[in-house]
Order: sequence, then C-alpha cells, then structure tokens
Amino acid sequence: MLAWNVINVPSTENRAGLKKRYDDSCAGCHMQKGDGAYGAGYYPSLANNSKMQSKYYIIRVLINGLRGIPSFHSMMNDAQIAAVTQYVHSDLNNFTDTVTTANVAQLRHDFPPGSDPSD
Ligand code: HEC
Repeated sequence: MLAWNVINVPSTENRAGLKKRYDDSCAGCHMQKGDGAYGAGYYPSLANNSKMQSKYYIIRVLINGLRGIPSFHSMMNDAQIAAVTQYVHSDLNNFTDTVTTANVAQLRHDFPPGSDPSD
C-alpha cells in the first residue's frame, strides 16, 4: 500500500508555500485576504464563505472553472490544487479538513475538465 500512502499524505507545501501559491494564482482576482472585489466584474469573497467548508466544492471549481473563473486543470498539478484548496479552506476560513492530492486526483477522474453533466 505504499503508493496509496504516498498520494494520500497532506500537501507537503509549508504554510508559506501555500500562501505564495494563493498570492500568485488567486489574489489577483480574489484579493490578498480573500475578501473579493467589485469593480470591473464581481469576484466573490473566499474568506468567511460557508461554501468553502467543502474542499470538494473548491477543487471542482478549480478543475472545471465556473463562469468568470478560469479552469486551472492544466495550469496546476494535483499537489498544487490541493495546496491552494487547503489555504482557502483553512487559512481564509477556519475549516479543518485535510486536503490531499488523492482528493484532487479523484475529482479529476470523476469530473474531467469540459465534461458536461447533461451528456
Ligand atoms: C481571472 C480572475 C480569477 C482568478 C485568477 C481566480 N478566480 Fe476564483 N473566481 C473568479 C470569479 C469571477 C468567480 C465567480 C464565478 C461565478 O460565480 O460566476 C470565482 C469563483 C471562485 C470560487 C467559487 C466561489 C463561490 O462562492 O462559489 C472559488 C472557490 C474560487 N473562485 C477559488 C479560486 C482560487 C483558489 C483561485 C486561485 C487558484 C482563483 N479562484 C483564481 C475569478 C478568478
């Protein structure tokens, strides 16, 4: 079961790494503290947002995009998506699930990018 253990460990990126990934990839739209913005569009707050309780919701948005948010499926690997999801889930909110690369891999498989649930 070694392989399973390897992919099921929490993201190895440290706290600073998680924040940097968020700052680099998300803060441009969602702002540094995740409080979102109104202006040339609407960027929802990711901080204190009860929808962020579900790590699976965050991962699905990142894999598939959602209207104004681009899909990150080809820009980030599973570990990177897990890291940024952990940051949004735990640091911007106070939820305590552990996000693993296996969680991301599972959703990538179940909901491949561009899949249309109505098909
Ligand atoms: C180019 C701008 C842009 C970037 C970069 C961006 N987002 Fe978004 N994001 C949006 C917009 C716009 C929405 C709202 C989509 C909608 O509901 O129409 C959104 C929605 C979301 C939602 C759903 C919010 C909710 O309340 O349902 C999550 C989660 C999210 N983004 C996470 C992230 C994360 C994590 C990153 C960095 C990896 C990121 N976004 C980067 C523009 C962006």
